[in-house]
Amino acid sequence: MQVFGVDIGGTGIKGAPVDIDEGTLTAPRFRLPTPQPAQPAAISKTVAEVVAHFGWTGPVGAAFPAVIKGGAARTAANIDPVWVGTDVAATLGSVLPGSPGGVAVVNDADAAGVAEMAFGAGRDVGGVVIMTTFGTGIGTAVFLHGQLVPNTELGHLEIGGYDAETRASEAARERDDLSWEKWAKRVTRYLNALEALLWPDLIIIGGGASRKSDRFLDRLEVNTKVVAAQLQNEAGIVGAALFAGASDQARPKMTARPTRRRPPATRPPGGRRP
Ligand code: BGC
Repeated sequence: MQVFGVDIGGTGIKGAPVDIDEGTLTAPRFRLPTPQPAQPAAISKTVAEVVAHFGWTGPVGAAFPAVIKGGAARTAANIDPVWVGTDVAATLGSVLPGSPGGVAVVNDADAAGVAEMAFGAGRDVGGVVIMTTFGTGIGTAVFLHGQLVPNTELGHLEIGGYDAETRASEAARERDDLSWEKWAKRVTRYLNALEALLWPDLIIIGGGASRKSDRFLDRLEVNTKVVAAQLQNEAGIVGAALFAGASDQARPKMTARPTRRRPPATRPPGGRRP
C-alpha cells in the first residue's frame, strides 16, 4: 500500500509517496524551502505544492516539529509560535484534495523513530531504544519493546543551565563553527544525560547529522551502543506515511481526557486535614 509522507522541517519541506509495507520511497523525494515566516497558510501552501508535484490525491501523513496531541500542535520551539494550539491536521487537510477529513500528523522525531524501528537500525530491537534526531533542534523518540512513548521532547533537557538543543544540535555545531571533535563532546554530554535518566539499550542517531556519522560516531564516549539511523533523512517521510497508514488501533494514542484539577486540599495551619 502507498501513502504519501511529508516531513515539515525548519529549513525544508520534503515529501514522497511511500510503500509502507517495504518502508521505501516509490519516487525520489521532492523538497521545497520552508517559507518564512513559517505560518500556517504559507506552510500549508508549500505542503500542497510538494504533494501536487506527484499528482497525489490519496492519504497523507505529516511529520511536524512540535508536540502533537489530537492533531494539534502544543509547542513551538523551532517554528512560528502561532502554531501553538493550531489544529495542524485540519489546517493541512484543508488544502489537500485527498484529505478532506484532515491528515495524520505526528511529531517529526516520533515519525523518524517509528520508521527506524520498523525498517532501520531499530528493527527487532527490544528493551529501551532512544532515537535522537540532530538537526535544527534535537528531537527524541523513546520506545519500550518497540512501543512508542510519544512526544518525549528530551532535546529540551536542561544541561549545564542550557536547553540541550541550543548547545548540541546540528544547527549549534554550524552556528558555533565547531570542529567534529568539539561537537562530539557536546553530544557526548547530552547522551550521557539520557543514559543517566533512561538507561537505554540502544541509541539511534538521526536527523541531518546522520549522513555524516563517520565524522563523529567514534568520538562519542557513551556506555550504550550508538548507531546511525539507516533511513537517514528519509526516516521522517517514511514514518509520517506509516503513521497515516496505520489503523487507529495501531497508532500511538495521542489523546486522553485531561485530568481534572482537584481543588487544593484545605489543611488548618500545622494541623491535620479535617
Ligand atoms: C521540538 C521537537 C522536535 C525537534 C526536532 C524540537 O525543538 O521541540 O518537537 O521533534 O525539535 O525537530
